[in-house]
Amino acid sequence: MTLADLVQQACARLDQAGVCFGHGTLNAYDEAAWLVLWRLGLPLDGLDDHAEDPVPADRVLAVQAFIEERIATRRPAAYLTGEAWLQGVPFNVDERVIVPRSLIAEVLAEGLIDAWFPEPPGRVLDLCTGNGSLAVLAAMAWPQALVTATDLSLDALIVAQRNVERHRLAQRIALRQGDGLAAAPGRHQLILCNPPYVNRDSMQALPPEYRAEPALALDGGDDGMDFVRGLLAQVPQHLADDGVLVLEIGHERAHFEAAFPALEPVWLPTSAGDDQVLLLPRQSWP
Ligand SMILES: C[S@@+](CC[C@H](N)C(=O)[O-])C[C@H]1O[C@@H](n2cnc3c(N)ncnc32)[C@H](O)[C@@H]1O
Repeated sequence: MTLADLVQQACARLDQAGVCFGHGTLNAYDEAAWLVLWRLGLPLDGLDDHAEDPVPADRVLAVQAFIEERIATRRPAAYLTGEAWLQGVPFNVDERVIVPRSLIAEVLAEGLIDAWFPEPPGRVLDLCTGNGSLAVLAAMAWPQALVTATDLSLDALIVAQRNVERHRLAQRIALRQGDGLAAAPGRHQLILCNPPYVNRDSMQALPPEYRAEPALALDGGDDGMDFVRGLLAQVPQHLADDGVLVLEIGHERAHFEAAFPALEPVWLPTSAGDDQVLLLPRQSWP
């Protein structure tokens, strides 16, 4: 069997089993290619170069068993491989953190935040950092910036620490444990936050792949706004006069607008739509 045949076979099996995507891939073919290449120890961009290579029978069996593990456990592929990519940057992941997929990464890559600052921001807070991916991407985007990255979960911060070290950014990223803004006193120029924001009904309907992730990272209470409510009550005291908050809220725009009718955020365009990431300058509050 060739590598291309094996990927096609794995794709058909994932499709047939009805597994859920959205943790780094969006369809069965891409997920199959990722899992097959990873299990064979090939570069993840190596499919075209190796498509017609024959795969020895024992390796075929190992790959097939790996695909069956993905199906039986319904764990996201990134938990099986221990690694995920965001904007082409690799990150360590495991069950202590969600698989990184924040749309704020796109906003950073496309420079949408830069327009709000005459000079690149020098002090950045990544609130709810999880595996530290947004802190790392912010530090890469602004090489002079000092970044504070916080999370309530000590387990998540252990994973974040590995990613900070992996990308040799320990000099510029400080990790802090604590509840919301209490972990990062003072005023910040830029606060990035991808918080738990999934509402109660959506939490109850989550596919198993999402239930494999820490509930603390997803559960936003009845209307998804529990964490955001506390954040927005305190954030004016934590932003510099020219500071900016960039907040991801997923599919919760209606709940956001119902909870905060007086706020008029700027909605930032992303590949998932124009209503999932918002920006609030400090001037939004009196
Ligand atoms: C949606 S995840 C985002 C993780 C990461 N920033 C990303 O984009 O992949 C939310 C994170 O918020 C953390 N969290 C939940 N409640 C918190 C709180 N009260 N204070 C600080 N962090 C909290 C969770 O542990 C989780 O790591």
